[in-house]
Amino acid sequence: MTKRNLDERVAVVTGAASGIGRAIAQNLASKGCHLALVDVDESGLEETRSSVARDDRRCTTHIADVSDKVRMQALPDEIAAAHGQVHILVNNAGVSVGSMFADHSIEDAEWVVGVNLWGVLYGCKFFLPHLKQADWAQIVNLSSLFGFFGMPGQACYSMTKAGVKALSEALWTELANTNVSVTSVHPGLIRTALIRSSRIEDPEEREKAIEMADKYGTDPDKAGRLIVRGIERNQRRVLIGGDARASDWLKRAFPTGFHGALTFAFKKANVTGMQP
Ligand SMILES: NC(=O)c1ccc[n+]([C@@H]2O[C@H](COP(=O)([O-])OP(=O)(O)OC[C@H]3O[C@@H](n4cnc5c(N)ncnc54)[C@H](O)[C@@H]3O)[C@@H](O)[C@H]2O)c1
Repeated sequence: MTKRNLDERVAVVTGAASGIGRAIAQNLASKGCHLALVDVDESGLEETRSSVARDDRRCTTHIADVSDKVRMQALPDEIAAAHGQVHILVNNAGVSVGSMFADHSIEDAEWVVGVNLWGVLYGCKFFLPHLKQADWAQIVNLSSLFGFFGMPGQACYSMTKAGVKALSEALWTELANTNVSVTSVHPGLIRTALIRSSRIEDPEEREKAIEMADKYGTDPDKAGRLIVRGIERNQRRVLIGGDARASDWLKRAFPTGFHGALTFAFKKANVTGMQP
């Protein structure tokens, strides 16, 4: 398989101030990319920037809330003005909410849909005209293993991640005869700040979820490496971790039985939700 050369490519990474986004930025930098780093967290962005700085490559930072349509509409021109062109867009910024659907506030649902779904949609929509001007370009959308199935206690989060998966899959065909490819990324549990910054009402559930991620989560740098390898190989899907691969297979093999097993497991453990 011929690998794409990422040297001197311009890559935009949203949610680059932390976790998987920072690891993607660092791995793209090690391949020689110029970077445009996007986030709402200014100090985290600066930390990422200083970790990737190279004299011979540009790295710009852009404060932007991906759920803000007006800001996202202006972002591609701002980045193109700084870098000349855009080759790679990684729609990575994401947030999480943990509560049973009946207890979910509408405000929390709007927050998670705004960032995880509208944020990805705005990214794809507003950057596409710029990406189409490149010789080859790649959109990378962060879904989740919860894009494969609806997770109890994570209904709204799962809904956004299934939506992101569907958007990527539709674009596989719609953009098939163009210069733009699309990668759908499905991480399992990754050891990042996502759970710490998520809106989980029950403090006990929160502690359990953090403990689980710290103990069993994949290292974010590994996730970043696999995603960048997926860009080099022009993969349509990148699954990260045994939990993601197993749930993908089990859900397809047992479309409803899978949920019966989840119901049993939740009842037995007497838990009200799991992360992420
Ligand atoms: N950590 C996991 O276990 C896991 C599993 C599956 C999928 N994911 C997905 O991976 C992506 C990255 O998550 P992570 O685990 O690195 O989390 P993280 O919390 O470490 O990083 C998320 C980043 O997104 C930024 N962000 C949040 N809201 C934003 C907004 N409105 N506009 C711009 N930036 C915003 C945050 O400031 C942060 O820097 C997310 O889309 C998440 O849903 C994570």
